[in-house]
Amino acid sequence: MNRILVATQNKGKIREIKDILKDTDLEILTPDDLGMSINVEEDGKTFLENAVKKAMAWREATGIDALADDSGLEVLSLGGRPGVRSSRFAGDNATDSENVDLLLKTMEGINDRRARFVCEVALALVNGGIISARGEYEGTILRKPVGENGFGYDPVFLDPGTGKTFAQLSREEKNAFSHRRKALTLIKDKLIAEGIIRSGTKVDSIP
Ligand code: IMP
Repeated sequence: MNRILVATQNKGKIREIKDILKDTDLEILTPDDLGMSINVEEDGKTFLENAVKKAMAWREATGIDALADDSGLEVLSLGGRPGVRSSRFAGDNATDSENVDLLLKTMEGINDRRARFVCEVALALVNGGIISARGEYEGTILRKPVGENGFGYDPVFLDPGTGKTFAQLSREEKNAFSHRRKALTLIKDKLIAEGIIRSGTKVDSIP
């Protein structure tokens, strides 16, 4: 394998994935590079189901090994909600702040504020194989938003390690240890272990 399609239009995710895979022999393509756009309904019951569905759809559409992810927030006291519905918690076209508002309202009076971000990454190989990895990051949900950076539930997610919300961290700080970083690092390690990609071989990484 020497190239993969990263099946997302999200520029932040593309940048992060390229950064993590930059010391490998992989060429990263995006839907924009191919001038393609397909719509895959995220109707799975789990993050993994959605990630695999997206990766397979892009693999079928392009004939290229395709990598996709799905992520969201799970709140322990809400039985894992909003979960796979994280981006649509307050409705199909809900904004980030509507989702955050509904989460805070739903958690009014709840003292157990433990939560985790989850990210599943799936790679659909043209030989039919699927390789996946999961990353999680635990924290707690504040009672009001703090911080201006990030997206989604970042302003109410308190990171116990830094004592800041994800929205108070810079993109680089958050990306250094996020659930997405963990999942991507794991899948990279799996691909290297299985001999599917090689590390430290990219020409432009040689000084
Ligand atoms: P998706 O994986 O891009 O579909 O993201 C699903 C939703 O989960 C986002 O719209 C956010 O609401 C939430 N989410 C996923 N990752 C993060 C994160 O790192 N910070 C804040 N919210 C997130």
